[in-house]
Amino acid sequence: MSEHFDVHGGARLVGEVEVVGAKNSVLKLMAAALLAEGTTTITNCPQILDVPLMADVLRSVGCEVVLDGDTAHITTPSELSHRADSPAMGKLRASVCVLGPLVGRLKKAVVALPGGDAIGSRPLDMHQNGLRKLGATSSIEHGCVVAEAVGLHGAQIWLDFPSVGATENILMAAVLAEGTTVIDNAAREPEIVDICTMLTEMGAKIEGAGTSTLTVEGVDTLHPTEHRVIGDRIVGATWAFAAAMTRGDLTVTGVNPHHLELVLEKLRLAGADITTFDGKGFRVVQPERPLSVDFVTLPYPGFATDLQPFAVALSSVSDGTSMITENVYEARFRFIEEMVRLGADARTDGHHAVVRGVDKLSSAPVWASDIRAGAGLVLAGLCADGVTEVWDVFHIDRGYPHFVENLNRLGARIDRVATEPDRC
Ligand code: UD1
Repeated sequence: MSEHFDVHGGARLVGEVEVVGAKNSVLKLMAAALLAEGTTTITNCPQILDVPLMADVLRSVGCEVVLDGDTAHITTPSELSHRADSPAMGKLRASVCVLGPLVGRLKKAVVALPGGDAIGSRPLDMHQNGLRKLGATSSIEHGCVVAEAVGLHGAQIWLDFPSVGATENILMAAVLAEGTTVIDNAAREPEIVDICTMLTEMGAKIEGAGTSTLTVEGVDTLHPTEHRVIGDRIVGATWAFAAAMTRGDLTVTGVNPHHLELVLEKLRLAGADITTFDGKGFRVVQPERPLSVDFVTLPYPGFATDLQPFAVALSSVSDGTSMITENVYEARFRFIEEMVRLGADARTDGHHAVVRGVDKLSSAPVWASDIRAGAGLVLAGLCADGVTEVWDVFHIDRGYPHFVENLNRLGARIDRVATEPDRC
């Protein structure tokens, strides 16, 4: 039985919403628990499907994991398995983040190639090259990344691109390598700062978190810690776009507005009144129809590729024409095909999209292709005439806990319906 959402158009969202811990941080922090024998506690975990999936991945290599509300207790034994090839591995991208910790601790890992969102080519060459620089061999064999080392030593590593996942995997191997590792052109995302903070709490020696150069002084062992996950800036930004698109008034808490400076600046240019509450949240009030704004996706502190669907959705109802450029994951423009079903005036050319705003979108059945595209379609449905059916909503459930409940509380009318689709 499939589930879909019936999204009734014409909502204005008003009220307050709290953002939970970041999906793209918690899963990596859970992997980091492999680095220390004993019980690591992670709080502010979002209640999304990927967290129990990651727990299964950790159990498959020998950990005990207890999930209790928003807290994860991960007990890592002295003897771990180097094989992470359980079925859960294929269901999420972040599962590949056990590679670095396993190589760091065991000097050996066989890790099934990860799954996750279909947003374009997601190679692992930079992860593998980094591990090779640290002294490991690495190959792809029978659907797994295989890595092995006699010992790991510090190295100078230049990344071709500031990849989030490669930075995390190399970092988690380097913290237990002998000597100094320098990762240049490292990712600077707040989630990287979060993992550096947790690793430091565990006894790692890392300098430069949040800059392009990470310097890691290897240590012999790490110890468990208790760590609180940072608020999810992508979910926070989703609510900011929701306010702007519905000419609403939303106060968003539980997220650091400094992580969203460029996003909030773009919404200001679109005509929103924005107030920030230091370290705690922000308020977005959109008094008039949004004005068109251009967006360019880039690694942090650039505009996040995960937010590109919301940029397209906002532009489709804005006054004027917007150019949106996708520099990270080309296949994310698949979202535009669904927006066209809803009456958006949008076309792509390579990694650029031109979107001419229309007065109102028109409801239609649409299909979510990934987490963010799914949430973008729900927001677009709120701005459409009639009832929009959004299908494949399991994607949305992977990233947004209580999304429909929150939207309905804030003034939307959305029903979760279990039936078979009737694609037109
Ligand atoms: C993470 C996020 C994802 C976000 C992305 C970029 C998680 C679970 N996912 O994904 O939501 O969209 O960051 O902010 O945290 N690349 C290579 N070779 C590699 C690694 C990456 O060519 O070895 C390329 C990718 O194809 C992509 C770019 O680098 O074009 C960025 O990828 P990366 O930052 O690694 O994304 P993820 O960590 O997979």
